[in-house]
This record gives sequence, C-alpha cells and structure tokens, in this order.
Amino acid sequence: MTVRLGILISGRGSNFVAIAQAIRRGELAAEVAVVVSNRRDAAGLGVARQLGYPAYAVDHRDFATREEHESEIVRILRDHHTGLVCLAGYMRKVTAGFIGAYPERVLNIHPSLLPSFPGVDAQVQAFEHGARISGCTVHFVDASLDGGPILVQRCVAVLPEDTVESLSARILVEEHQAYVEAIAMVVKGVKVEGRRVVAAK
Ligand code: GRF
Repeated sequence: MTVRLGILISGRGSNFVAIAQAIRRGELAAEVAVVVSNRRDAAGLGVARQLGYPAYAVDHRDFATREEHESEIVRILRDHHTGLVCLAGYMRKVTAGFIGAYPERVLNIHPSLLPSFPGVDAQVQAFEHGARISGCTVHFVDASLDGGPILVQRCVAVLPEDTVESLSARILVEEHQAYVEAIAMVVKGVKVEGRRVVAAK
C-alpha cells in the first residue's frame, strides 16, 4: 500500500513542494495525504491548495495547551489516513504524546549536520562557528531536540565568499534531495537499532 504522508509546515513549504514533485515525477512511492500548518499565513498552505492537496491551518494560538493543539493535528492526520508524518519547516517542538501517536513514524529535516548545531537558526550557528562543512539531516523525531536517529545527511561546503543567505540556499537544495531519499528509505522499510537506522530485513 502506498505510504500516505502528512506534512507539517510553518512557512514557505519548499521541502513539501520538493516531496510532492518527486511523487508526481514517479520517483517516490508515496502520496501526500494532507498538509497542516500551525500558522494561517504559511505560504506553503496556499501552494498546497493550488496543487490540489487538502491543507489546513491549525493555529497553536487558538488552543489553551500544546496537547490540545497537537490532538487536533493528530485528528486531521488520522482523518486523512496518514501513515508517515513529515515535519518540513514545522517550527514547533512536538510532545511525547504526538510522537506516541506515530511511533517511529515522524521525520524531521534540520539544516545542519546533526548533532552539530541543533535548535533554531542552524545555518547561522554553523556560519558563525566557522564550520567548513555543514549540510542537512533527516532524522526520526524523538523527545530530544533534533536528536533522533538519523536517516540521511548531505554535506555542503562553507565557502570563503559565503554569507548566511548563500549558505542557506545551497543547504536548501540538498534538503530537498535528502527528504525524498529519507522517505524512500522508510517506504522500503527501515528499523531503528539503538541510534542506527538500518534496512528492515
Ligand atoms: C528548512 O531550512 C528546514 O530545514 C528548517 O526550516 C526550513 C523550512 O523551509 N527546519 P521550507 O518551509 O521547507 O521551505
């Protein structure tokens, strides 16, 4: 059965679009079931609707607690028969309750080579640290901050002439590839052994 993706965004949604395009090109045996944003003004919501996907804003400011907000998102994900949740520029930390609803079925993309530079503004952190190599990581989400088992990493050299903007732009190109690769791995079947993600056979 095709893996149905529930994609969570907060902003422009370029990772979502890269995933949707890979599916439309026949490169990924998955389908976009639903797109959810915690922000009404997320540009990616409009893009999702234009592309014909169900897209919902579930603004966290409309809920008294994080749990209530997440419950509503889980309800929407289940309504759309989501099998794999992809956090794609979703700028909210998810709770253990949310992860428990989709055990080893929540992915995140982070714009650095984890475990270096977790948290916000990873590209700025790497640039200001003087890192010579950065990149991106797709990992399973666990209760830690950007610390779950890693599926895919791609490297990007930091060039002498780089600015944070130029570095971020090159990392983003790799993010789009990395997310598609990571979903393809899950579609094929993986399991987590300790910290390592291995083929499930
Ligand atoms: C990406 O850099 C992602 O790694 C980070 O937020 C950004 C989202 O970009 N978590 P987009 O919304 O997918 O264009």
